[in-house]
Amino acid sequence: MKDYTLGFIGAGRVTKIMLDGFKRAGTFPRQVVATDLKQETLDALKTRFPSIDTVLNDNQKPCAQDLVFLALHPPAIGAVLDGIRPFVSPNTILVSLAPKISIEKISERLGGFKRIVRLLPNAPSIVNAGFNPTTFSPAFALDEKQDILSLFRVLGECPEVKEETIEAYAITTAMGPTYLWFQLDELQKLGETYGLASNDLQSGLKHMVIGAAKTMFESGLSASEVMDLIPVKPLGEDEAGIRSLYKTKLDALLNKLKAS
Ligand SMILES: NC(=O)c1ccc[n+]([C@@H]2O[C@H](COP(=O)([O-])OP(=O)(O)OC[C@H]3O[C@@H](n4cnc5c(N)ncnc54)[C@H](OP(=O)(O)O)[C@@H]3O)[C@@H](O)[C@H]2O)c1
Repeated sequence: MKDYTLGFIGAGRVTKIMLDGFKRAGTFPRQVVATDLKQETLDALKTRFPSIDTVLNDNQKPCAQDLVFLALHPPAIGAVLDGIRPFVSPNTILVSLAPKISIEKISERLGGFKRIVRLLPNAPSIVNAGFNPTTFSPAFALDEKQDILSLFRVLGECPEVKEETIEAYAITTAMGPTYLWFQLDELQKLGETYGLASNDLQSGLKHMVIGAAKTMFESGLSASEVMDLIPVKPLGEDEAGIRSLYKTKLDALLNKLKAS
């Protein structure tokens, strides 16, 4: 794997997730520089990863690294792009982690800069089990794409996808854990009150989720055949309401992400 140095503009959740993933895999980059608007956010990151450099509200140093991650929410990105325009060198690889703002728009804002990647990370990257769709501008040769993807693959699966699918992946896979985690938390808490040992229950729930996904997608059965495998469904009468909630909320969010 190529020995890239990394810059992060924004030192919040996704920066922590990615750095934790590299650390856990034993492939922590030799140089990481992160900036953020708040000193306390930088201090928390530095405490967790002592080898990194942090700089308060200074985008120039992260931009001097090989890969520069825009780890910012979309509303903050426009002004940051305007500010970093003088610091982006012809060799920089700019990686946007935002679920919106196209490569074309980023390029325009940077005066025609072309070496842009969009990576949509998801939180299980923290345990190297992410599903992180990636899309490249046409500026990258195949071997360079492979080098970049081999860095990202430390965090999990990184399929190369068409850019126009990124928003849909944001809602289904990137935000997907938020639909499941609270349910797992509730099952864990309830199971413990039923007398199950915490570790045994964690292991059971983990196997259950993996097994349920494999059955849904690898059994060769249709979705309705899979769901008919268990006739007793304690939440069955609420399913229609939950499905409708998914549709209403996720459709609205997709429209919001697609709107420029
Ligand atoms: N978390 C995930 O699982 C996930 C998954 C997929 C994609 N993403 C994307 O990753 C991006 C970052 O998300 P996040 O979850 O890491 O958000 P976050 O935890 O809120 O982190 C963003 C950080 O950037 C800081 N910031 C804002 N403006 C800045 C500026 N001009 N210069 C430097 N730092 C600035 C924020 O400071 P303040 O809090 O003071 O504003 C905050 O500390 C978003 O586009 C998000 O959609 C996240």
